[in-house]
Amino acid sequence: MAEVGIDGMEIRTGKLQLDLAETFAPAQGDDPEKYTKGLGLFTSSFPDVYEDIVTMAANASRRLLDRKDISLEDIGRIDVATESAFDKSKPVSTYVAGCLEQVFEGDLHHANKGERKFACVAGTQALDDAYNWIRAGRNRGRKALVIATDTALYARDDAGEATQGAGAVAMVVDENPDLVTFSDQQGFGSADETDFLKPNQQFPSVDGKRSMQVYLARMREAMEDFERNGGDTHPDNFALIPFHTPFPGMVRRAAALGFRHCIRGNEVEEEVAEEIGRQPRQEEFDSHEAYLDAQKEYTETLTETDQYTDWYKQTIEPTLAISRYVGNWYTGSVHIARAAGMQEALDEGRDLTGKQLLIGSYGSGAQAEIHAETIQSGWEDEISQLNIDEQMEQRRDISFAEYERIHDAHNHDENREMDPLTTPDNEFVFDGWGRMGERK
Ligand code: CAA
Repeated sequence: MAEVGIDGMEIRTGKLQLDLAETFAPAQGDDPEKYTKGLGLFTSSFPDVYEDIVTMAANASRRLLDRKDISLEDIGRIDVATESAFDKSKPVSTYVAGCLEQVFEGDLHHANKGERKFACVAGTQALDDAYNWIRAGRNRGRKALVIATDTALYARDDAGEATQGAGAVAMVVDENPDLVTFSDQQGFGSADETDFLKPNQQFPSVDGKRSMQVYLARMREAMEDFERNGGDTHPDNFALIPFHTPFPGMVRRAAALGFRHCIRGNEVEEEVAEEIGRQPRQEEFDSHEAYLDAQKEYTETLTETDQYTDWYKQTIEPTLAISRYVGNWYTGSVHIARAAGMQEALDEGRDLTGKQLLIGSYGSGAQAEIHAETIQSGWEDEISQLNIDEQMEQRRDISFAEYERIHDAHNHDENREMDPLTTPDNEFVFDGWGRMGERK
């Protein structure tokens, strides 16, 4: 059976940019370093008034199909993962298909279309679905188009406002892929949680601090499940470890927890033990609280060791290079982390062919998934064709007053001003309901 995985990807950012240190922090009366150092974010992407989850998804997909010379006939399935859906009946993929049919020959009537929802982990779940569909032989030689698209906006003055973002990632899943293959090894950590909810409302209700604890708890469970499934999480096994990145500060915590977990019982723990002592063990403490305190202290010291800092610099830091400048993209976030890591590796001349990635996906509500991927020989060609750096450069910087206007427009405010701040350039635009995805 042929290997299955991601054959190619394209990334589309919203066309506006909010500078967190220069524009947002002063308006909030905050120290800019809370954003740049604390959260690890510099700018965030916003959609102009004519952009939304459909246009960003369709524009990313169009470039991907063009570049890979894929015809509509070649696609047997389109799945969109999003937590910003606006229709409770038909999936966003039908809108995207409608857009693609405007610019490519033929149609997508034969393609199965769906929408995946489980907060930010849905993008990875949609990839899993595509993988299973192909492995089951139900694809009849055709490819799956998987899109993760979101406008990650919070209510004004919500603590989450600092972590907003908007963009889409389109991926083609196929046999003998150019970019990465998926392995059968997966691990899950899943529980019914209520830290982040959007029940019939535009902006989420979030208990931010608790959401961070839930992220870490589910990620640890997923790692344990991955190991039970035969996965070896030794930190040296992986060239890059892209995590879901709501903001880089969250990944800093996930990485420390992951490293502490993954060195248990191996030679790295022995090396670290010479410097700072071995990990605390549950049975040595009278109470669970005392054990947790000891673990916290150990983890803080661990992150100062050479073993940790070298590993972090090589496998984690490169994955944050895009997210620092675009913010949270919910379903797309872990996929831009994968792309960023590979892009940085390409710039540094690292040879990744045959190397492993460990992907740490997460969605509130809550579920984490860990899976391994193997990088394929076509990765350099694929990654070198991404134009996300160019798109980020071209974003229009917005003032705080413009930010407020754009935020209202995306809140579907009745009195919103719909004047755009940028000019469409041969792309799909939102031009009013019933005229979705027209081209301008
Ligand atoms: N200089 C340097 N650092 C500073 C600083 C300064 N002047 N002021 C504050 N900081 C640091 C803080 O110490 C903190 O860092 P540590 O966590 O490492 O201690 C960091 O900046 C943030 O400061 P606060 O904790 O005070 O920030 P906050 O309370 O305003 O909000 C947040 C932080 C809770 C994450 C908020 O942004 C939020 O609610 N975000 C949305 C929810 C979210 O992203 N959760 C993540 C897990 S859930 C998930 O991943 C799913 C998803 O996509 C939403």
